[in-house]
Amino acid sequence: MTRKIAIFDTTLRDGEQSPGASMNTEEKLVIARQLLRLNVDVIEAGFPISSPGDFESVRRISELAGDNAVVCGLTRAIDKDIEVAADALKFAKRPRIHTGIGVSPSHMRDKLRITEEQCIERAVHAVSYAKTFVDDVQFYAEDAGRSDFAFLAKVIEAVIAAGATVVNIPDTTGYSLPWDFGERIKYLVDHVKGIDDVTISVHCHNDLGMATALSLAGVRNGATQIECTINGLGERAGNTAMEEVVMGIKMHQDELDAHTGINTPEFIKASRLVSSITGMNVQANKAIVGANAFAHSSGIHQDGVLKKRDTYEIIDPAEVGAGQSQIVLTARSGHAALKHRLEELGYAFDDERLDQLYEAFLNLADKKKEVYDEDLESLVNERDREAEALYSLDSVQVSCGFPLKPTATLTLKNPEDELVTVCEWGTGPVDAVYKAVDKVLAVDADLAEFSVQSVTRGIDALGEVTVRVKAANGEMYTGRGADGDIIVSSTKAYLNALNRLISEKH
Ligand code: KIV
Ligand code: ZN
Repeated sequence: MTRKIAIFDTTLRDGEQSPGASMNTEEKLVIARQLLRLNVDVIEAGFPISSPGDFESVRRISELAGDNAVVCGLTRAIDKDIEVAADALKFAKRPRIHTGIGVSPSHMRDKLRITEEQCIERAVHAVSYAKTFVDDVQFYAEDAGRSDFAFLAKVIEAVIAAGATVVNIPDTTGYSLPWDFGERIKYLVDHVKGIDDVTISVHCHNDLGMATALSLAGVRNGATQIECTINGLGERAGNTAMEEVVMGIKMHQDELDAHTGINTPEFIKASRLVSSITGMNVQANKAIVGANAFAHSSGIHQDGVLKKRDTYEIIDPAEVGAGQSQIVLTARSGHAALKHRLEELGYAFDDERLDQLYEAFLNLADKKKEVYDEDLESLVNERDREAEALYSLDSVQVSCGFPLKPTATLTLKNPEDELVTVCEWGTGPVDAVYKAVDKVLAVDADLAEFSVQSVTRGIDALGEVTVRVKAANGEMYTGRGADGDIIVSSTKAYLNALNRLISEKH
């Protein structure tokens, strides 16, 4: 069996430190419930002394979690912080106090203005004091990533002797390179007395975009707890993203001799929940939870994925709750992708019909960035309408605008396969086109209804026009037309209705 890596979630503490991501207690409870569904090992619920809201969140999440997760409250190495955290955690079944102090030259000299000896003294006092309230005390060596190896080892050894159960080695500023950070963890494993009896935790920031890599380097060298957040939320560039680090471990379980207890199909739900509560959306190309994480756009990739998913996909999307791989239909998609998607929509066409549709699809894809399911359905229906048509549209052109008189030049193919061209003017461009159609078809009917609706989203969406035409005998005929150009859809819709009327009369 590989080593169990504990997942320590800090979305509600470090994640909330993201500028603009503050949450109220009710929102934190909603996220905490999702963290329990994910089966995280530890929830860092807040920094109780920092505000009454944080205190309340830690208290309520303690009640919510019961036996299912350790609940942790953050403190500085200050007695009052520790007392308030202990109070907030008093209903927790598995409480943990997370206390610590800066250990890098920069933090000791410029922020805390203390000597190395004073730093160790304060660290040991904080851990011993926290121990008087709870058994489980985690110590953080802030800015460990920029600290002196030997001094860091000295601090860690001292806090273990004082009773720390977990030692957290943060790369607070996201400064390290993965191999250096890994070496730092290994140095502690090799040099600190008592380290085998405690959990080594890593807490990495993403300032150089390497938080996930740093955490994995830590695991590779002896860490058995990772601190992370949903969507990588956190101070500045954020923390290690839980979904990334957990899937990284899952994909390389043997090599890392590690596994987690995370219920990975809950990832997408967790990601969306955190985005909607904090208003911080993830970018489309974000690993694991981005909208494009399982979307294949190029024809070569689509062909491969359709033959066998793992040609271009290392994770089954269902494993992270993302449903199926997505084939994004664009002008680069091939026949295979179009056929596959049509089949998924329930259509089965012979090769000749598929070729015709593919041509229409390419025309549309040239005008639009992405072709959606609704566009495809519209295309298929359009082809059906054209196949039935007695009169079909060859070309239409309008000129209109202020102060022009709207005019239309229309060419239709009649049932004898001859092209007929007419010009008309009207009160608007659609009126001008419809008068031109009337001139060619010479049907006794009135336009009773006209409506336009966009088939898909975006400015380049297809516009679908529906018309109802009333024949002289009172019968109503409906026609539909879809195109990226609203004048073309209007023409097609009107022709569709009149074609029906004529073929019924015949
Ligand atoms: O980044 C950091 O060092 C922290 C500590 C408080 C654990 O967030
Ligand atoms: Zn942090």
